[in-house]
Amino acid sequence: MKEDCFIARILVNGGDIMRIVVTGGTSGIGYGTARLAAERGCKVTIVGRNRTQGVKLAAELGADYLYADLSKMSDVRKLAEQLEEPIDALALCAGGISTSKETRLTDEGLETTFATNFLSKFALSQLLLQQNKIVPGGCIVMVGGNGGHKNASTAWAESHAGLQAAFKAALAVDLYASELAKQHPQLRVHTCYPGMVRTNLFREATLPIRLLSRVLGKPIAKGSAYLGRLILEKHSGVHWKQNRPMRFPTPLPGGQEVKALWAYSRQAVLL
Ligand SMILES: NC(=O)c1ccc[n+]([C@@H]2O[C@H](COP(=O)([O-])OP(=O)(O)OC[C@H]3O[C@@H](n4cnc5c(N)ncnc54)[C@H](OP(=O)(O)O)[C@@H]3O)[C@@H](O)[C@H]2O)c1
Repeated sequence: MKEDCFIARILVNGGDIMRIVVTGGTSGIGYGTARLAAERGCKVTIVGRNRTQGVKLAAELGADYLYADLSKMSDVRKLAEQLEEPIDALALCAGGISTSKETRLTDEGLETTFATNFLSKFALSQLLLQQNKIVPGGCIVMVGGNGGHKNASTAWAESHAGLQAAFKAALAVDLYASELAKQHPQLRVHTCYPGMVRTNLFREATLPIRLLSRVLGKPIAKGSAYLGRLILEKHSGVHWKQNRPMRFPTPLPGGQEVKALWAYSRQAVLL
């Protein structure tokens, strides 16, 4: 699919330019999404930890840059305060993986990968909604996993190491998006798995994995275009795999698990 085949129409609010906030906008899929949005005339704010990169890329894109370490819920709260309304789209792309066998905790006592890949998405979107900063009809899109949740734990309060933490976060993102879409039918809520994309994600992985991602991964512009499509066009359906609706190999857990996830997340991020 060519990025250029997207409609060039920018969704506008009362004639104003569409305003997009992109977490993880300093690299990879988030950067590609920010770039696509900037090229389509949107007003973009990128969020990341790498200040040098953030300032440089923001200047290149004509965007704003805000610093936040999204593994820290105190930084997420600060970020929500700094962001100004109205926000037309929130692209939640920040995240990472760790191959360490050790569990990594933040200063706030949260497991780092789950905090960055899921809890920051929960906290930032919930805070911005509470503060009425996301416009009715606005869009929240989250980078998701490939939908294969068979080995993902639902022990939300437990800390996991390495890929287990990333699997659990990917399941939490899918469950949260389903529930958020139910609670806010006026919003366009999506997850999107872009397939394997050639980003910095695998930089600490073993050499074979790094090589595999170089060979099999698609260019950043192509991976990000799947998210851009959901932001810039109206599509129904929450979960997407590239430009098709996601088919989960096993059904997502329901009711009780979602309630437990919500309760744990609220308590963990102090909402
Ligand atoms: N690449 C793939 O094939 C692929 C496929 C499916 C899903 N994903 C998921 O997509 C997400 C983005 O990955 P990517 O491939 O774009 O990797 P990437 O090139 O490494 O980019 C990761 C982005 O997330 C930001 N980030 C990471 N930890 C952060 C933190 N604690 N606070 C603030 N920002 C943080 C980084 O910002 P700084 O560098 O400024 O810290 C960077 O902008 C990850 O969750 C990944 O699991 C990736």
